[in-house]
Parts: sequence; structure tokens; C-alpha cells
Amino acid sequence: MNKIYSKRRKKLLKEFKNDAVVVLSSAALKQRSNDTEFPFRQDSNFYYLSGFKEDNACMVLLKKNNKIKSYLFLTERNEQMELWTGERLGTERAGTLGFDKCFDIKTLGSKLGKYFLDVDDLYLDFYSEITSTRTAKRVAKTLSQGRTRSVKNFLDITSIVQKMRLVKDENEIKQMRKAVMITKNAHHIAMQKIKPNSYEYKTQARIEKSFKSDGAYWDAYTTIVASGNNANTLHYILNDKKINDGDLVLIDAGSEYNYYASDVTRTFPVNGKFTPAQKEVYEMVLNVQLRIIEMIKPGIVKQDIQDASERFLAQGMLDLGILKGDLDEILKEKKQKKYYPHGIGHWMGLDVHDPCPYRDDEGNEIPFAKGMILTIEPGIYLNANDKEVPKKYRGIGIRIEDDILVTKEGNENLSKSIVKNVEDIEALMA
Ligand code: GLY
Ligand code: MN
Ligand code: MN
Repeated sequence: MNKIYSKRRKKLLKEFKNDAVVVLSSAALKQRSNDTEFPFRQDSNFYYLSGFKEDNACMVLLKKNNKIKSYLFLTERNEQMELWTGERLGTERAGTLGFDKCFDIKTLGSKLGKYFLDVDDLYLDFYSEITSTRTAKRVAKTLSQGRTRSVKNFLDITSIVQKMRLVKDENEIKQMRKAVMITKNAHHIAMQKIKPNSYEYKTQARIEKSFKSDGAYWDAYTTIVASGNNANTLHYILNDKKINDGDLVLIDAGSEYNYYASDVTRTFPVNGKFTPAQKEVYEMVLNVQLRIIEMIKPGIVKQDIQDASERFLAQGMLDLGILKGDLDEILKEKKQKKYYPHGIGHWMGLDVHDPCPYRDDEGNEIPFAKGMILTIEPGIYLNANDKEVPKKYRGIGIRIEDDILVTKEGNENLSKSIVKNVEDIEALMA
């Protein structure tokens, strides 16, 4: 298992043409209020290259004279501290992580200068919000001690690691399959138990209870339970309103399992029966979603499916009388954007919005390839106060989102067993 991480470190270092040193910090504990902190989650890039889950750590990777070394600096064990905050791995046992050497983080300052000698290129995580400040402080201290005379170039490592994260390996896919299955349970429980006149937060609680009961400590992002017109606020996370009989409920919720995300949205009627108007919009969005998923295969680029989703949704809205006029005119003037303001999907992995690139270094779109995972999530948002929308559709907000793995020949919808057809939803809720 730990071989995965050392292989990744080697792969990263082998890509450098010059001798280089990489300094990458772990995430830090974050204060919540006074002396309480948010639960700790490791920075995704740091985890990707180390598999190490503790805070207060730093990785130094070296390529010098074609030799490759990787060092981990971590918190040394301390009985008093462990009494309060639990066991640490400590330097003695850190050999299991597959680094060449592990040191007490307290010695980082005295060792860093040595690593900087005789290398031109110093790679830092300066595009990472979570870790860059700590790295910058550590490096700046060493710089100020004047022992870095030979470092010439300060370069970014964040985007290089993000590029590596684009294609998922078998083990990563396995974690995401599990995350999606945990998410499936939660969505199904939510649909089965919800009742008119209950509060959105009650459904949120059921979902999060289900995640945790199934072994997913984290939600991959804040759960959205948006009833009625609240679904027309895209990132509605208040979840504090009463759900009226007859309303649709949009649930966007995904568990994180072993650091890997899932991201699923379902929209269904709180009372278990779609009205004719709800069904018309729902099936239009669902048809678009199915058509887009069908397009996904190696060689396709994101813009292809974005353009297609705009065209299909615009045509659907024309058919329903939500938009009026000529399809090409509508697309030219981007009128569909009013009701479909977001993208068709995004990469998913260690982060729900995996920050992997969509374009290569030349600015060309990266074609889909086997092992990439992305969401497909068309949506239509028809505000209750929008007089331009046919009256029967006002207040309807619908998004349908699945997690799609690109395969050799096409794709696999990892979340396809989460009910989605009108008949299947109504049957599950009956
Ligand atoms: N849940 C966030 C998203 O769908 O992108
Ligand atoms: Mn999404
Ligand atoms: Mn989502």
C-alpha cells in the first residue's frame, strides 16, 4: 500500500530535468473558536504523495546527481501530548511510510539549508491555500539565514501534483466506488423517510447519520437539502425550512471515504408523487443527463459536453415553453444561461472539485481518458418570482448528478444504482 505513495514521489521527481528540491507542508489544525479546532483533514496533495494523515509535517523531496531521496519531517512522540490528542506515528515507526528517512519536525529548520545547496530549482506549494503559508515561513527562515546561495528558481509544485491526480488508479477508483455506495444508502434512506411538513435539516441529519454509520467520517462537501424554491439557490446549505406538501426536494450530498469523494444530486417530490408539471421538467433534465453521459468516452473534451448540454437543455426549455424563439439565436445570446447557469460537471477525486487541469500546458483541452472521473450534473432553476417562466413551472429547481468513470471504450456510471427514473423514485417512496 505504501508503495503507491513512494511510486508517486518517484514519478514526480523523475519528471524534473534539473536537480531539484521540493518542500511540501501538511495541512495545519484550524481554530474554530477559542481553544477548539475543526477536525483535522490532511491536505489532498500531501496525502497523495505520502498517505500520511497527521498535521505538523513537512515533506522534502530531492533529486541530485540523478539520485532521488524523500524525507518526512513529523511530530515526534510525546507521552504528555498523546494523553490529550492521541497517538502519533513518531519517527521510529514512520519507516512504514516508505520515506528514505524520517525526522522530528523540530529539526527541519536546521536541515533545510543543507538540502538547498547545489540545486537550481526549488519547488514549493505556493498555489495551495491550505499549506503554502507554512511552507513559505519555513523556507523564508532558511533563506534569511543565507544558506541558499545556489537556489536560482522558485517554482510551483501544486499544479504538477494536480496534473498527476487526473488519472485515477485502481485503488483510488475502489475508494470512490465505496464512497458512492455509502452515498447511495443515504440518498435512498432520505427518500424513503422524508415526509411533508418536516424540516430540511431532519433529512440532512438522516443523510449524515447514514454516511457516518457506514464508515464515512466526512461529507465530501456540505449537504444541500433544498425544498421548493430553495433549490433555485445553487449552494443552498441553510437547510432550515419546512418542506411543504407538493414541493420537490433537491438533495446534493456525497460522502468522502478514505479521502475520496462522491458527489450525487437527486430531485424528487416530498410526497412521493411528481405533479405533471414537475414530471415534465424532471424528465427533460433527465433525458439531457442521459444523453450527455452517453457521449462520455476517451477522446471527448469537456467543451464538447458543455456545448451539448447547453443545446439539449435549451431545446428542452423551448419544447416546454420556458424559452421562446429560435434555438441557434438562443444559444448565440446564451439565453439558456439564465436557467442553467453552471457547468455540466467537474473532475472528482481527493477533492470533490478535484483541482486537476482541464487544459494542457499549450492551452489545449485535455481529452478524456481511461481512469478519469467526472460528475455530470445538468440543472434547470426556475425561480418562483420569475414572471417569464410559465406559471406551472415557477418555483421548480432540478439538478440530477452522477459520478462517471471514463473507461477504455466509454464510461461507467458509478452512481447509476441510485434511483433516478420517475417510476423508480415513486416506487421507492411508496
Ligand atoms: N456538490 C457540489 C457540486 O455539485 O459541484
Ligand atoms: Mn458536482
Ligand atoms: Mn453536487
